[in-house]
Amino acid sequence: MRATRGVVLAGGSGSRLHPLTKTTNKHLLPVGDVPMVYHPVRRLVEASILDVLVVTGVHHVGAIVNQLGSGEEFGCRFTYRVQERAGGIAEALGLAEDFARGGPIAVVLGDNVFDAPLRPHLEDWERSGKRAMILLKEVPDPERFGVARFENGQIVEVVEKPAQPPSPHAVTGIYFYESDVFGIVGGLRPSARGELEISEVNTAYIRAGAMHVGQLPGWWTDAGTHESYRRANLLVKQP
Ligand code: DAU
Repeated sequence: MRATRGVVLAGGSGSRLHPLTKTTNKHLLPVGDVPMVYHPVRRLVEASILDVLVVTGVHHVGAIVNQLGSGEEFGCRFTYRVQERAGGIAEALGLAEDFARGGPIAVVLGDNVFDAPLRPHLEDWERSGKRAMILLKEVPDPERFGVARFENGQIVEVVEKPAQPPSPHAVTGIYFYESDVFGIVGGLRPSARGELEISEVNTAYIRAGAMHVGQLPGWWTDAGTHESYRRANLLVKQP
């Protein structure tokens, strides 16, 4: 398998979890017996991705570094980058360009908690020969996510938080990209909510015929709202 580096995006404001996130970074809140961010980190390490960049915001970088340390506790090596303001997931991803060194990266959002191992998906991506891969999950509340739109059984775009979801298939916060992703990020303009949108990056790959689409097995949730945070805590306790 190609040497793939990992990126965990743990910036953002966490405003939907106020007041829990008033003085604490969302990704340091407990999910099960460990801080939230441990879950995506462990999934990467388990897939033998041992070089991991953590991107976080100015306000909490000290706490994040204090918590995660060098990586010794996880058997990996952390690099850190600071995102000046919550300018969007794609903006945070753009900070990984030097770290990627022109190679492929596996990106996981720091508030995504799931039980399926990543390695089979990495292998599937490699076999596909495509430049990017997303993993979909059918959910009851797709309007909260990036949602896949299909025409004649083919994915044609990802729509971010649509009022009328075109399908029940949410795009999970697990993304695989070749390094041409940084060129795509560089060409983005801020959306109506003032962010560089990861769904626009994914739609660019889809339109170029360069996106492989997989399904994430097992359970998956984000933990960015009070309800999903509670759900994450219940799911990790499942035997
Ligand atoms: O969980 C999957 C969903 O995550 C996707 O389906 C959506 O397409 C994607 O936009 C995202 O939606 P959210 O509304 O949940 O994104 P949120 O703003 O909560 O950010 C998710 C994580 O991304 C957050 O835990 C940390 C990181 N992030 C986010 C922003 C806005 C950053 O590192 N920097 C940022 O500026």
